[in-house]
Amino acid sequence: MVKVKMFDPVSQEALPAKEMPPLDAHAFHEVVDSRRSVRIYAADGVPEEVVDRCADAAHKAPNSSNLQCWELHRVSSGEKRKALVEACLGQPAASTAPELFVFVARPDLWKRNNRWMIEEFDRRGDTPDRAYQYFRKITKIAYTQGVFSWVKRVWFPLRALTKPTPREPIGWADMRVWSHKSTALSAAHFMLAMRAEGYDTCPMEGMDSVRVKRILGLPRLSEVCMVVSAGKRTEKGVYGLRFRFDRDTFYHKH
Ligand SMILES: Cc1cc2nc3c(=O)[nH]c(=O)nc-3n(C[C@H](O)[C@H](O)[C@H](O)COP(=O)(O)O)c2cc1C
Repeated sequence: MVKVKMFDPVSQEALPAKEMPPLDAHAFHEVVDSRRSVRIYAADGVPEEVVDRCADAAHKAPNSSNLQCWELHRVSSGEKRKALVEACLGQPAASTAPELFVFVARPDLWKRNNRWMIEEFDRRGDTPDRAYQYFRKITKIAYTQGVFSWVKRVWFPLRALTKPTPREPIGWADMRVWSHKSTALSAAHFMLAMRAEGYDTCPMEGMDSVRVKRILGLPRLSEVCMVVSAGKRTEKGVYGLRFRFDRDTFYHKH
C-alpha cells in the first residue's frame, strides 16, 4: 500500500537559514494591526505596480500540495465592474472601491495542475523520486473523487483503525473546502500586501456567487471564494474600533 506522507515537494527558494534576509517584525505587526476592512474608499486608484506586487504576494501563498487550484480576477472598470458591484449587492465596500478582485477556488483544475507539476519536474530533470511519487500516486489517491470517493469512504476509516489516515477530502464537498482553504490564504496575503503598500481592502462574501461566476465567465465547478475591494480608505471608511472576543476563546494551549 502507498505510504501517505505529506511534504512540500516544490520549494523554489530553499535559502539556508544563515542567508535569510534581515526582517522587521515590528513593521509586519504594524501592517497586521493597521489592516481594517474598509467600506468607503477615496477616489484615488491603486498604482499598477502596487497591484502587480500584491498579486505576486497572493500568488506566493501557501497552498495544498502546491497544486495552486486558485485564480485571481481583477475587474477595474466598465460594464463588468458595474455588474460586479451589483452582484456584491451594491454594498459600499464594492461600489466606492476603485479596484475589485475576485479570488476564485478551482477544485476542478487539480488534475490539470497535477499534470503541469509532473511536466515541470520533467523539464527540471533533477526532481527527487519521492516528489514524483507524490504527484503520481499520493495526490491521485487524495484528490480523485467520483466513484473512487466511495472506495475511500470504506478504505480510509478501516485504515484509520490502526494508523493516522487523512480523512478528507472525500467527495466533492470536501474538494470545495480543500480549494477554499488555499484560496482564502491567497486573499489574506493579498490584503496584507496591499496594507504594506499603504492601501486598504475589504473581503466580501456578501455577493451572489452565481452572478459573479457569470460575469467572469467561470465554469460551474469553480468557486467564488471572496471578492476583495481595494483602494485608499477615507476618514469614515472604517466603521468602528477593531473588536475581537477574548483571546482565550481563540487561543488554546495544550
Ligand atoms: C470571508 C469574509 C467575508 C466578508 N464579507 C464581508 C462583506 O460582504 N461585507 C463587508 O462589509 N465585510 C465583509 N467582511 C469583513 C468582516 O466583516 C471583517 O473582517 C470583520 O468585521 C473584522 O473587521 P476587520 O477586518 O476590520 O478586522 C468579510 C470578511 C471575511 C473574512
